[in-house]
Amino acid sequence: LAEDGYRLWLRYNTVHDPALLQQYRQQITSILSPGDADGLFRAQQELITGLSGLLGKQISMQMGVNNGTVMVGLPQHFSFIRTLVGDTALARLGEEGFIIRTTRRDGKSVILITGNKEAGILYGVFHFLRLLQTHQPIQQLNISSTPKIQLRLLNHWDNLNRTVERGYAGGSIWDWQRLPGYIDQRYIDYARANASIGINGTVLTNVNANAMVLTEAWLQKVAALANVFRQYHLKVYLTARFSAPVEIGKLKTADPLNAEVKQWWKEKANEIYRSIPDFGGFLVKANSEGQPGPQNYQRTHADGANMLADAVAPHGGIVMWRAFVYSNESPEDRFKQAYNDFKPLDGQFRKNVLVQVKNGPIDFQPREPFHPLFGAMPQTPLMMEFQLTQEYMGFATHLVYQAPLFKEVLNADTHSKSSSTVAQIIDGTANNHTLTGMAGVANIGSDINWTGHPFGQANWYTLGRLAWDNSLTSAQIANEWIRQTFSNKKAFVDTVQQLMLASREIMVNYMTPLGLHHIMGYGHHYGPAPWYNKAPRADWNPVYFHKADSIGIGFDRTASGSNALAQYQPAVRQQFENMATCPEYFLLWFHHVPWDHKMRSGKTLWETMCDKYYSGVDSVRWMQRSWNRMQNFIDAERFNQVRQLLAIQEQEAVWWRNACLLYFQTFSRKAIPAGYEKPD
Ligand code: GCU
Repeated sequence: LAEDGYRLWLRYNTVHDPALLQQYRQQITSILSPGDADGLFRAQQELITGLSGLLGKQISMQMGVNNGTVMVGLPQHFSFIRTLVGDTALARLGEEGFIIRTTRRDGKSVILITGNKEAGILYGVFHFLRLLQTHQPIQQLNISSTPKIQLRLLNHWDNLNRTVERGYAGGSIWDWQRLPGYIDQRYIDYARANASIGINGTVLTNVNANAMVLTEAWLQKVAALANVFRQYHLKVYLTARFSAPVEIGKLKTADPLNAEVKQWWKEKANEIYRSIPDFGGFLVKANSEGQPGPQNYQRTHADGANMLADAVAPHGGIVMWRAFVYSNESPEDRFKQAYNDFKPLDGQFRKNVLVQVKNGPIDFQPREPFHPLFGAMPQTPLMMEFQLTQEYMGFATHLVYQAPLFKEVLNADTHSKSSSTVAQIIDGTANNHTLTGMAGVANIGSDINWTGHPFGQANWYTLGRLAWDNSLTSAQIANEWIRQTFSNKKAFVDTVQQLMLASREIMVNYMTPLGLHHIMGYGHHYGPAPWYNKAPRADWNPVYFHKADSIGIGFDRTASGSNALAQYQPAVRQQFENMATCPEYFLLWFHHVPWDHKMRSGKTLWETMCDKYYSGVDSVRWMQRSWNRMQNFIDAERFNQVRQLLAIQEQEAVWWRNACLLYFQTFSRKAIPAGYEKPD
């Protein structure tokens, strides 16, 4: 069989290091777990498959304990657990936490995997398998782990006709036409993959989807998916099109304060919960990019969100209301619009509403400063929205490991309190919220390897791991992913980890260095088009964002410009508004900078811009050389896929560099510094 990448990071190939294999075989001999506990079935199955694969011999469920028995169960299954672990420690695990511990039973050394609830056990099993997959020592295990964030979600931008908005890995994996009768194995593997990294919810439909999915026939299909996913503790959510009461409900209005509209949504929620009792709730895009919303009826986002929240509240559901709103009727800097709309509503949302905020104020650019809303709405649970699909990062063609981008945002200090990094805002610790969430716009499609680029899998993996534990570093996550997905051989792990960690900055350098943003091709968003100015809306034109002229380049967002910086807390604003303290990688986000401006290196802005674009291209060539040395470590198939994709990435890095420098040169009227190959 081809090594096609279908198995993602869940490859249970036999441990190749003979000494380690022998050790593991002594340390793990059998599984003891109640055979009649239905809720543990999937965890047991995974453990049997995983261990048998990794150890290269059948490991099965047996009665009784031996040295090396893995005991898997809830406190009610094994009475010693309560005494061993203690009630307080167990309580602290909540519904999803787990404990993995080496202990003794009947004079034998055993490994216990337990939790308060079945979900915790499933996560514990996957964690245990990960230890073996990544060749960790397991002789004295004492692990206790709970998720930092409650809702760890994928957002699929999948349409009912199986196209995927901004999807680059084939069509939608939801085979609506054959649902509900036909359950594709892919759904099970999708749920397994998510559970293995702690993802516990999935929004099946596009934020721009029509309302059809809320009709009866489609809800049956959704219920069939929910039945599969439930076994892996993965909840289903749907997008709710705000105008649904008009479009599928025959009402004259969708005004959120209208009694009939409220009633319509209540009944719709009741209908959904009748077939999906654990339905998660709704994700809503309203009054943005032409979508309907409460503002159509002179109501606020809070009015809209609360109306839906009231409909799902009796069932324990939640509403994720997106803050990605901007309109072209407003002359205001697009950067500022979400804050302007939402900040005044802080404190007005129901308890079961989260406001879902994109990491940055514009739209998933290669680098954005953190969204100012993160420091501005203490009374509202704010949920993070990252984008795994690489809409602005070379689609599924460029190798870009996004963990460094995610971490940069999470580590940013909002200065809204003494401890208020973005991570602390969204994990609820800064403002004492218990309802917390992190979502990633999925990069998954029907391609055999799920994500198109084999390295796209790492971004999916990262979302789950970071939502579980936002203190993990980019290096740790890359390291585990490489070991599970490709190989544990040191030379391979070291080289590929270095390459992954550098890849995001390399992309920034050849696409949008020094704080440039939104200069990509119109509509499709692929490749450079900084010159483009024909979009139907000014705020979709690259020229609106870079503002290059004979004096300089960049968007003045200080008080002399749009004053977007006033949306940050004073400490952040001051740092960014002063050119001397603004990090150079954000410079053109906030300042219109003269071409001759002296950068910290002593070079001019123009020279530095040239350096960045050239070094971006050179670094892609370095990635190619590094990858070419990996040929003997892995299967030819995935090696060749990545090799070919890197070759395209190199050509396109050159394209970006040449297009941007030649265009900006028409304003700067300065030469490309000596020593660089000529752009053409
Ligand atoms: C971007 C993207 C759209 C998407 C939108 C959103 O603008 O290009 O396709 O719908 O973000 O997040 O709502």
